[in-house]
Amino acid sequence: MKGATDNAGRHSASGQSGPRLLHTFCYRPPVNDDHNQLAKKSQAWSALFSEPMSDLVKRYTASVDFDKRLWRADITGSLAHAEMLHAQGILSADDHAAIQKGMAQITAEIEAGSFVWKLDLEDVHLNVEARLTELVGIAGKRLHTGRSRNDQVATDVRLWLRGEIDELSRLLVALQRVLVEQAEKHAEVILPGFTHLQVAQPVSFGHHLLAYVEMFARDAERLADVRKRVNRLPLGAAALAGTSYPLDRERVAKTLGMEGVCQNSLDAVSDRDFAIEFSAAASLAMVHISRLSEELILWMSQNFGFIALPDAFCTGSSIMPQKKNPDVPELARGKTGRVVGHLVGLVTLMKGQPLAYNKDNQEDKEPLFDTVDTLKDTLRIFADMLAGLTVKPEAMRAAALRGYATATDLADYLVKKGLPFRDAHEVVAHAVKTASTRGIDLAALSLDELRAFDGRIENDVFEVLSLEGSLNARSTLGGTAPVQVRAQVARHRSRLG
Ligand code: ARG
Repeated sequence: MKGATDNAGRHSASGQSGPRLLHTFCYRPPVNDDHNQLAKKSQAWSALFSEPMSDLVKRYTASVDFDKRLWRADITGSLAHAEMLHAQGILSADDHAAIQKGMAQITAEIEAGSFVWKLDLEDVHLNVEARLTELVGIAGKRLHTGRSRNDQVATDVRLWLRGEIDELSRLLVALQRVLVEQAEKHAEVILPGFTHLQVAQPVSFGHHLLAYVEMFARDAERLADVRKRVNRLPLGAAALAGTSYPLDRERVAKTLGMEGVCQNSLDAVSDRDFAIEFSAAASLAMVHISRLSEELILWMSQNFGFIALPDAFCTGSSIMPQKKNPDVPELARGKTGRVVGHLVGLVTLMKGQPLAYNKDNQEDKEPLFDTVDTLKDTLRIFADMLAGLTVKPEAMRAAALRGYATATDLADYLVKKGLPFRDAHEVVAHAVKTASTRGIDLAALSLDELRAFDGRIENDVFEVLSLEGSLNARSTLGGTAPVQVRAQVARHRSRLG
């Protein structure tokens, strides 16, 4: 393939007594008044091509429609590159100033919506560069010295993703805060905890919500970890092998606030593992959202009736007037499939690629962008929706009373009175069988009836069989006792700030 990097060596001393290396790199281009070649050519790269592309192929190969969202990162990266070129004596002060001025104007144009994006110019990088040259002339053409779109795009995606990770981290904190608030409010509310979706033991609703806080806290931790590897600089790798200009890559990294430079040029331009690991972290966050969604949907069904979601997050049915559907959690559960799909797409995109850059990598953007958009929207919506959650403690309590949720407590009671656990388990199974045949709760059996199962049972058993007794008893660190829930709320509060 053609040298898309086109580091054509146009490094002019432009007449002034410039920085130290201007002479070394002095190249006086043939006088050319048309600074605007790039913008005017039907193909953006070189004179080598004689056949024009069909519109279909142009559309197929172009990425500008979606990668234009990288524009700010592209300009930031270019300015850092230009600053370094100047500091290294490769770019004159005048050219540097012209590039800065041109980029400021381009920024204003894009922000104002007046920038004209051209499909003929393929991608965001060539669009910005062409406009720069249109605006400032030959200095614009010098910007690409010592650089290729290969290291440029890798840099842009990393810069952009770093910003998005920061935003996602803030959103994860906001969501956790809402859950912590609700957990504190509902520390004493009891619902049945399930295993196999069968009633297992009573738990505090606050405790249940804090389980999700743990998940989202780990999601945030994962993102912070991924960020370290995202935040490294490919620029300076040029097309694939490095460059013959005396670039100061560390300087560019510092200017861009990056934590280091990619240490191998072939790897720098080609691997998208940072995008894949981000996508994996995002998928997990969505999986957590999806589990929560599943619970909200169940809890809101008439068969549970544990909660209501605010109307603003539900829709009605066009045919059944009584319906209020939990559309938002259902969609979030559905969108999780889409985000996990992007992860699979990105991994698959990478697996067959030889070193170094291949155009396949242009396909990294849409899945990555959609992953970020979907996760951001979902986190925002969930924070708002959960802040407006209506909790129905009576329904939760009734459900906890229905399923012999305190059977384990009775067994533990007998163990404390000297019965081996296995025997206690058996005794309680008989008691549950009797109670369920009669359609009543264990606590509704009389003391005499209970004593018939084991003579060790005394009047204090009724405290043990109560939901509150069961809850309070589970006060190991991380357990469901309200005292533990409140301790966890305090820990999260100080962690989240
Ligand atoms: N639009 C391209 C991408 O997203 C930029 C890099 C193009 N490099 C090249 N040698 N064609 O990957």
